[in-house]
Order: sequence, then structure tokens, then C-alpha cells
Amino acid sequence: MMEFRRIQEVLESLPDGLRPLTSGLDHIGMAVESLTDSLPLYRDLLGLELLYEETVESDGVRVAVLELGGGHLELLEPTGLDTPVGRFLAKRGPGIHHIALRVNDCAAALAAARDCGLQTLDQAPRRGAGGKQIAFLHPKATGGVLLELCQS
Ligand code: CO
Repeated sequence: MMEFRRIQEVLESLPDGLRPLTSGLDHIGMAVESLTDSLPLYRDLLGLELLYEETVESDGVRVAVLELGGGHLELLEPTGLDTPVGRFLAKRGPGIHHIALRVNDCAAALAAARDCGLQTLDQAPRRGAGGKQIAFLHPKATGGVLLELCQS
């Protein structure tokens, strides 16, 4: 459990532009078996505009990014079984995989989270879909939700 006093200390040590760490929703990541099978629902029936599709080799995932009114929906199709999303699908089936919050400075936000004692999956920001700088907090640190810090 995080200590409130430690959070206050860390926050006070940050410059104004980084307080609070995040400024709203960037995107929701959803694991799907197939982009081809999912797009008729999300793009055509529900009417979310498809902004772009991209393969992020380093994460073993094909991504379709759709407009969600102020944020994005990322549909994530694994490129293989032995990938993070492939393993997620095998274990839990399709569904919400992560929630991404917008940050001004991913490296600084990640460092502040670690400074507060939060467990993180990434030691340093890395490149995500759309060329964004991203880093994940460990679900154990966030009540079971995989949270991404995302800098556009
Ligand atoms: Co994401």
C-alpha cells in the first residue's frame, strides 16, 4: 500500500508542469483475436473512426487506433501466441487489456511513480503505437488494472 506522506513528498518535488502526473484518458487498449473480425463492430456499426493501423513488433501486436471522443480505442491483435497480448487472450479471453493516461513527460512520471514505491513493468519509457513514449505500471500496484503512462 502506498504511503500518503510519500506521495505528497514526491509531488512537492516535481515542477508545476508535472503535477499531477496525468491529465486524463489517452486510450483504452482492448485485446481482440482478430482486427479484421473486430473492425466491422467498432468502426462500421458503432461508428468509431479508424485513424490508423500499425504493427508494433517490439510488443508483438497489431494495433488499430479508433477515435473515441477525446481519447482513442486501441484494438490489439497479437502477432503470435507467445506475446503479451497472446498470453492475455489465452488466460482471460478478449476484453479490456489496459487503460492509458496522458502524461507530459513519460520519463519523469515513471520516475515519480517509482519514487513513490510503485512497482512498474518498465524501467524506462519505450516506443508505443503512433510513436508515443509509453511505460506500464504493474497491476499489483494499481488495484489489478494495467495502467499505461502515455506521452503523445
Ligand atoms: Co496502450
